Amino acid sequence: MTFSGTHLADLQAPLLGVNIDHVATVRNARGGVFPDPVRAALLAVEAGADIVTFHLREDRRHIRDEDVARLKQAIAVPLNFEAAVTDEMLAIIEQTRPEHVCLVPERRQEVTTEGGLDVVGQFGRMQDACARLAAAGSRVSLFIGADPAQIEAAARAGAPCIELHTGALANAWWAGDAALLQSELARLREGVRLGRSLGLRTHAGHGLALSDDLPDGRSPSEPSSTALVAALPDVGELHIGHALIGRAVFVGLRQAIADFKAEAIRARHA
Ligand code: PXP
Repeated sequence: MTFSGTHLADLQAPLLGVNIDHVATVRNARGGVFPDPVRAALLAVEAGADIVTFHLREDRRHIRDEDVARLKQAIAVPLNFEAAVTDEMLAIIEQTRPEHVCLVPERRQEVTTEGGLDVVGQFGRMQDACARLAAAGSRVSLFIGADPAQIEAAARAGAPCIELHTGALANAWWAGDAALLQSELARLREGVRLGRSLGLRTHAGHGLALSDDLPDGRSPSEPSSTALVAALPDVGELHIGHALIGRAVFVGLRQAIADFKAEAIRARHA
């Protein structure tokens, strides 16, 4: 399969989408203007982010509407706008016209995006959203679990891309559960393979981290969740937020981005 003239397997490493939501989380904790997620996004681009990712949630708990407008004005790399499949969000996306959109499930009470979309169960709605956003000029990705039925449904719904949810894999990695980690990795690998065979550009994200941020007592030399996923040759993009912004507390945002990018490149060439 080709995408923008490039065979996915020829890409040197997955592109890195830096999710800036949690800069806004810290800002909103005091209700003011600092730290500014747009400033973080500008620095992220300088530091090598390929894509700037953000999630405008229904409750606006982190990114707000005015941030979206400012990101659109300020950021030169593609924006990846994550949003729930609601009329309100689809209208904002049509108005914003980001290069990329990732449609996600959203439940008000959840701490983060806990599962993937049910494309099988909400097929018509997903198909309509894909058509509507493609007509607005955005490349659409559906955030789903690595479940063959959901992947096939995403292809039938007309999505050019899928993002496979790595939350369960990441949780197993943080917990040091080697057996679960291996089974989640195998499931992800099969999902990526199926995505490719259906002509879908396949991305991955959620919970990915680096090994030297593991708690004391765990070896920084064990493969990171980021490396395990980046090593899969047909993963075209990684979208990483929480552990990257968390790492930035200790090493700075510029260094954190450089570290995640280097990890992805190393994993792809190992
Ligand atoms: N991809 C999607 C679709 C997401 O919703 C999120 C969380 O906003 C991420 C990736 C990044 O997850 P994390 O913040 O755990 O790295």
